[in-house]
Amino acid sequence: MDAQKIIFLFIFLVPLSSATSIVDFCVADFNYPGGPAGYACRNPANLTADDFVYSGLGVAGNTSNIFNASAFLAVDITFPALNGLGLSMARLDFGVGGVIPIHAHRVSEVILVIEGTIIAGFIGSDNTPYYKTLNKGDIMIFPQSLLHFQVNVGDSPALAFVSLNSASPGFQTTSFALGANDLPTDIIQKITLLDAAQIRQLKTVFGGTN
Ligand SMILES: *[C@@H]1O[C@H](CO)[C@@H](O)[C@H](O)[C@H]1NC(C)=O
Ligand SMILES: *[C@@H]1O[C@H](CO)[C@@H](O)[C@H](O)[C@H]1NC(C)=O
Ligand SMILES: *[C@@H]1O[C@H](CO)[C@@H](O)[C@H](O)[C@H]1NC(C)=O
Repeated sequence: MDAQKIIFLFIFLVPLSSATSIVDFCVADFNYPGGPAGYACRNPANLTADDFVYSGLGVAGNTSNIFNASAFLAVDITFPALNGLGLSMARLDFGVGGVIPIHAHRVSEVILVIEGTIIAGFIGSDNTPYYKTLNKGDIMIFPQSLLHFQVNVGDSPALAFVSLNSASPGFQTTSFALGANDLPTDIIQKITLLDAAQIRQLKTVFGGTN
């Protein structure tokens, strides 16, 4: 490639690649189906400041469940103003001993601990575990698509908020993926080396069959 071509690419491709959006915002219109690029936009003329505010994360989640924890998501389907903006948030409440089980998203996440003491970590794609005890004010990164988890190791409830760099980050939890559907037990045995009794227990707990 000669110098002229390189200069051409620099002048014409760099500005294009850094262009972001032709609209200020695109509050999701659920009258139309969503796709990989998100949802259609509501008519801006109908929007008010209220459309850009979501109060759902102000309320403590119900931690009366098998994990003694809850994750409450502000994502495009709950907070439509996030549509197209590439970010979302969630509130994590942990009872004593509470756990957000090992799971993954399509995107990266940052956690900020507000109250309590948790162990948070992720597993690298070379299977290296990175985990650390976090206290109030600490933040930690979970890189995109890697399995990660949080465990309350303090003697009181814990509270954290996370932010993810997608309005629709996805949420795939290993124990649900194995136990909450009708994938046959003998296949799960083959693909995990877990024994049948453990798999049946997971299916009982998470509502799976087969
Ligand atoms: C939005 O605005 C359009 C045009 O002003 C109007 O026809 C429509 O009824 C409005 N929709 C809502 C949900 O307010
Ligand atoms: C919390 O969830 C449990 C289990 O689903 C339910 O029995 C209980 O009523 C819920 N508590 C509140 C305050 O909603
Ligand atoms: C979960 O919470 C219940 C009720 O507060 C408590 O009895 C139980 O010990 C907790 N589980 C763990 C693993 O700490």
